[in-house]
Amino acid sequence: MTEALSRSPLARFIALVEQRLGLHYEPEQWGELAPLLFERSASRGMEGYLSLLNSTASEAEWRALAERLTVGETYFLRHPAQLEVLMSKVLPSLAQPGAPIRVLCAGCSTGEEPYSIALLCREQGKVDPSQLRVLGIDVNPRAIAHARNARYSPWSLRSVPQALRERWFQRSSEGFFLRPALRDQVLFEERNLLEDAPAFWAPASFHVILCRNVMLYFPAEVTRKIIARMSQALVPGGYLFLGPSETLRGISEDFELLRSADAFYYRRKAPAPAATVAEPVSTPVPATVKAPVRQPPPMQEGLDALLPLLDAERYAEAWARLDALPQAALPQGQLLRAVLHLNAGRFAEAEHAGQQLLSMRDTEASAHFLLGVCLEHSGDEAGARNRYAAAARADPTFALSHLRAGTLARRAGNVAEARVALRMALSLLPQEKPLRLTLFGGGFGRHGLMQVGLRELQACTEVP
Ligand SMILES: C[S@@+](CC[C@H](N)C(=O)[O-])C[C@H]1O[C@@H](n2cnc3c(N)ncnc32)[C@H](O)[C@@H]1O
Repeated sequence: MTEALSRSPLARFIALVEQRLGLHYEPEQWGELAPLLFERSASRGMEGYLSLLNSTASEAEWRALAERLTVGETYFLRHPAQLEVLMSKVLPSLAQPGAPIRVLCAGCSTGEEPYSIALLCREQGKVDPSQLRVLGIDVNPRAIAHARNARYSPWSLRSVPQALRERWFQRSSEGFFLRPALRDQVLFEERNLLEDAPAFWAPASFHVILCRNVMLYFPAEVTRKIIARMSQALVPGGYLFLGPSETLRGISEDFELLRSADAFYYRRKAPAPAATVAEPVSTPVPATVKAPVRQPPPMQEGLDALLPLLDAERYAEAWARLDALPQAALPQGQLLRAVLHLNAGRFAEAEHAGQQLLSMRDTEASAHFLLGVCLEHSGDEAGARNRYAAAARADPTFALSHLRAGTLARRAGNVAEARVALRMALSLLPQEKPLRLTLFGGGFGRHGLMQVGLRELQACTEVP
């Protein structure tokens, strides 16, 4: 107690945040929280505020802090290889006539992940959608309200093919509204993963839990506690999906690691043999899941070292490391910074950085592309198309700029132009630079982008 009181108010605030929300901050990040502490404590003083946070009357304040402190980055059809295995193997293996399949998305943010599952279930028809029960939970009340409202920006739909957009969303001047048939299939609940809630986590409550890109920010002991709770709440032989850069190594012995194509996931060990849907992975453990949670992948020299972090969507870490590199001031470093702004949804900053990079020979094509993405986000598809065309002029081998230009030309009804651009994209994609795929591929690999290009080209021929 005496020790706690002798620590600075900021240190005590940070300890309370970790204890209540699980969010861990390294000492070098503490300064980022100081303005928030000043703001929130202005009316009652630091000591009064810290006492409030410790008291039973603090519920509303913790909800407000959850809104300010959590990182909600998400989008539809994220980590497609995992969704593919979920749809094609895991859910069909769990289906029994008339029995529900219960799926929990823990840390669902604004709802894109649970809705993606409902959408794919309808699209692929391997499981009866009426059997599927999807529940999304998140500690951030604003995210849950957004999820229930089901209105999304083009940025959230950046990985959704055109045909699916048209089938499942209604476009209006305010954004894309998910159609009620899907919206009503998913339930949402505000819930803190750290809170003891024995009834919610009762044994065998769920067949599948997705907790992707949530525990990256938690210390290992918090992760251990939450995983133990999830393990108990899964049916024996139930499945757990973590984000591609998260792992249970050193966290839990309750699960076996499975692999299917490019996806890694876990199955709760069952006393009796469970239905096999994929081969358990023996050593060596794949590189993407080797490192313990929060431990960065092995570093390479210079800016290249940031690429694995970008691939794993660990943007905050990439940002911190970029700042520490001497190359950060070079055009390529500035380009990385601009892409990090983009991925965090800070479009004004990304646009500003993109404008500055236009005049530099090494980054001109990428800068045009980046500005095109910003324009797409703001709904200006014609402007974006011009930018992608400019990117292709600056570097004619830039496959992704042909791909985006072709996609937008088709959407605008200019099928002839779309065909030329898409054919160009398909011929160039096999050689597209890995750096560009990482920076601008939207999480699709080379193969995924080829599929997107082929689908777009096919859609051109379908237009009368
Ligand atoms: C980066 S988003 C991941 C969204 C989604 N799972 C995905 O992969 O696209 C992380 C989410 O975890 C939520 N979160 C963080 N701490 C949490 C906690 N203690 N309890 C419940 N949700 C939490 C955040 O509010 C945020 O919406």
